[in-house]
Amino acid sequence: MELKAPRGTYDVLPPETAKWQYVEGVLRDTARLFGYSEVRTPIFEHTELFERGVGDTTDIVTKEMYTFEDKANRSLTLRPEGTASCVRALIEHSVYGGIMPVKWYYGGPMFRYDRPQAGRYRQFCQFGVEVFGSHSPFVDAEVIMLLVEVLQRLGLDGYELHLNSVGCPKCREIHRQKLVEHMVPVKERLCHDCQTRLVKNPLRVIDCKVRACQEAIAGFPTMYDNLCETCHNHYAQVKTVLGDNAIAFIQDHNLVRGLDYYTNTAFEIHIPQIGAQSAIGGGGRYNGLIQAIGGPDLPGIGFAIGMERLLLALETRPGAQRVGEEGRLQVFLAVQDEKYSALAMRLLDRIRRTGIISDRDYNQRSMKAQMKYADKLGARIVVVLGEAELARGTLVVRDMLSREQQEVPTESLTAVLKDLLA
Ligand code: HAM
Repeated sequence: MELKAPRGTYDVLPPETAKWQYVEGVLRDTARLFGYSEVRTPIFEHTELFERGVGDTTDIVTKEMYTFEDKANRSLTLRPEGTASCVRALIEHSVYGGIMPVKWYYGGPMFRYDRPQAGRYRQFCQFGVEVFGSHSPFVDAEVIMLLVEVLQRLGLDGYELHLNSVGCPKCREIHRQKLVEHMVPVKERLCHDCQTRLVKNPLRVIDCKVRACQEAIAGFPTMYDNLCETCHNHYAQVKTVLGDNAIAFIQDHNLVRGLDYYTNTAFEIHIPQIGAQSAIGGGGRYNGLIQAIGGPDLPGIGFAIGMERLLLALETRPGAQRVGEEGRLQVFLAVQDEKYSALAMRLLDRIRRTGIISDRDYNQRSMKAQMKYADKLGARIVVVLGEAELARGTLVVRDMLSREQQEVPTESLTAVLKDLLA
């Protein structure tokens, strides 16, 4: 047996986990600040949900799903994204019968069978939000503002917000026809996949990563050129609200998202410094999805951020190595003699009850080895439980930063520690 995590997956070990917790905290707090509540859905769903939800001509559905049959021959799929599951839950529990709009956030692992590279995994984590039941362009703006707020709180200012409108089914059909007219004469220059896409879903050709395809379709009409009046107005309003709130964006009329459900507003956030997989998040409106999955005719909008890419971006930020440090060990209790072990346990309990992160040696190391150990753990302060001091009712408190130490009465220990840590 090969003792290696499967290709495209990874472990997160300490101290890296502290960074994850920090970023997850920022995401959760920001979503709550904007009035969103958490939803948790299963990691696998009926395959059909994603076929219908994500779209059966998308790369995700045609190539990337982890689909398996369970023991009762049901076709199940590890979720490749979170939106379809949220919509399924909304319909299943008739949540739309309550207060609208419904504002949810979620996070967790997603699965796509793609070629792994920096920033691209087969199991990756997303944090996303979804709003159901409002057509207001102010909601589009809010969702984007929430995404931008997260980046600002994380100190990531080198981002680019790409914005587009992919219209409604009416204007999309007109656009589709125009695209086909333009694409048929250059069909031979398109890759094999795009020749199929041309028949099944020509909009997907725009998203193709093959350079020859991009060259063949350069200058073709964009969705923006074919927006109907309603879609045009909606897009204009979203841009106005973003402008009003000082959110800078790039109008990217070739932006096509990799999932079929989008209507109107579509957006992506890129951080170019992190390399080829620079899209750290993306989303948009999906006004037909809820009905397509079997629910009422309700609009929706949301986005998802890729956690790995967000963490990669965080590494490019000055001071990144200090992220998550607040969770590090603050106090180490060094015990001179094993006979004081029970006393050390009570003392440690007292320190921990004040909220100070603390630990001790359990392996009967020598005093010198305990100091080294405390240093390795990154403890800010070492408290020494020594024989001579105990006889005087005191303890030695050593500040590992300034290397200064003082003898303090046992009863004032926690107050002194708090003072030093403040
Ligand atoms: P998506 O653009 O497919 O959208 O994924 C969102 C983000 O997930 C990407 O921007 C990227 O950061 C991350 N991501 C995607 N695939 C991978 C991968 N293989 N490895 C690492 N990170 C990855 C959605 O999933 C939509 N459900 C977003 C949405 C929500 N739209 C509306 N509501």
